[in-house]
Amino acid sequence: MGQNNNNERTSRLSGFYKLPLSERVDIVADFAGLNEDEKELLIGSGHDAKQADLMIENTLGTFELPLGVAVNFLVNGQDYLVPMAVEEPSVLAAVSHAAKLFRAGGGFTATATDPVMIGQIQVLDVPDLDAAVAAIEENKEALLLQANCCDEIIINLGGGARDIIARPFPETPVGPMLVVHLLFDTRDAMGANSVNTAVEALAPMVSDLTGGRTSLRILSNLADQRVAMAKGTIPAAMLETHGIPGTEVARMIEEANAFAIVDPYRAATHNKGIMNGIDAVVIATGNDWRAIEAGAHAYAARDGRYQSLTDWHVDENGDLFGQIVLPMAVGMVGGATKVHPTAKVAMKILGVQSAGELAQVIASVGLAQNLAAIKALSTVGIQRGHMRLHARQVAMAAGATDDQVQRIANQLVAEKRINIGRAQELLAEEN
Ligand code: MEV
Repeated sequence: MGQNNNNERTSRLSGFYKLPLSERVDIVADFAGLNEDEKELLIGSGHDAKQADLMIENTLGTFELPLGVAVNFLVNGQDYLVPMAVEEPSVLAAVSHAAKLFRAGGGFTATATDPVMIGQIQVLDVPDLDAAVAAIEENKEALLLQANCCDEIIINLGGGARDIIARPFPETPVGPMLVVHLLFDTRDAMGANSVNTAVEALAPMVSDLTGGRTSLRILSNLADQRVAMAKGTIPAAMLETHGIPGTEVARMIEEANAFAIVDPYRAATHNKGIMNGIDAVVIATGNDWRAIEAGAHAYAARDGRYQSLTDWHVDENGDLFGQIVLPMAVGMVGGATKVHPTAKVAMKILGVQSAGELAQVIASVGLAQNLAAIKALSTVGIQRGHMRLHARQVAMAAGATDDQVQRIANQLVAEKRINIGRAQELLAEEN
């Protein structure tokens, strides 16, 4: 197994997906020289692997991430415990601390637009772009009707086609192109399937009306019609840190944000910190975090220059005001939210009633995560808190057992030598 007829080690495995899970694991074990323990680790409890086998193809098992819960979140006057799946130490501690600071100012105020997604149809070989745009405009009603042909559930729930927009591109590397946008309200679904079905159903009509040839028909992850906004004010006194007065910290946070507004190199890191929190909730709730990542970064560059997704400034009282706006294409029906067993529990912990409410909580998490990072960065630096938590991972990587991890980590921190080599030395001394 894992070998072809000539007994060569090969990755060319025809029909691999059709094999029973255990046989797939045997083949991979053979290929990669896995031992019985490693095979066992892949298959895990068996139950999870079976579930996973129904979700994707070529399944071997499951891959687990730590799941935690962020505390202190008050959004629109409501308390939330926010489940987060993430491997990076300090994300949960930092976001919970920041949520506490927001709470002192009354918590987060968050809103979300209607859940309107964009579906795109690419039209090529259009004989006359202006005439094609006019034809789309004139036949909007019929096009909207056609777009609503195929998803009865969403239509009955009050969703469906909202608008059609024709976007001409007279010059592209392959000649003139027309792009037709369908704006489609997907209600509590993320909506990729509904939108993709709708644009596929619409394409023949678009082709007839424009005289062009339709090619790609797919949703856009730049979901700028479906954005979530969260904002809040932190009383300056709450920001006092290591002897630095709160008003001073507020000003330093504003300066840190200005850095991310003017410089894309900083903005990338600033926004990565925001996504540390956002992705963790998106993953825990079984949503598509690649879609959220793509949307966030494209949105951050929407004005032609990549910049911060947040805005921070000191208000007239000397307190710190912060705000975030970003696309938030998350759902709570369909997809893994309703299939992944842990995601189902996570959704229950979160207790949101709609995709919009989920989007509001996630935006609040992004804002809080950003605050925690730039507050630390602009005051004591990030390493102080990070390394303390990172030390545990270093100790584990060096082979510390459960009851050794904290002791070794403490020692590494005390010595300010947080590296695997030192952890191994300490373990050797102990063992
Ligand atoms: C690390 O995962 C995230 C930070 O780099 C974010 C930031 O720099 O704002 C700390």
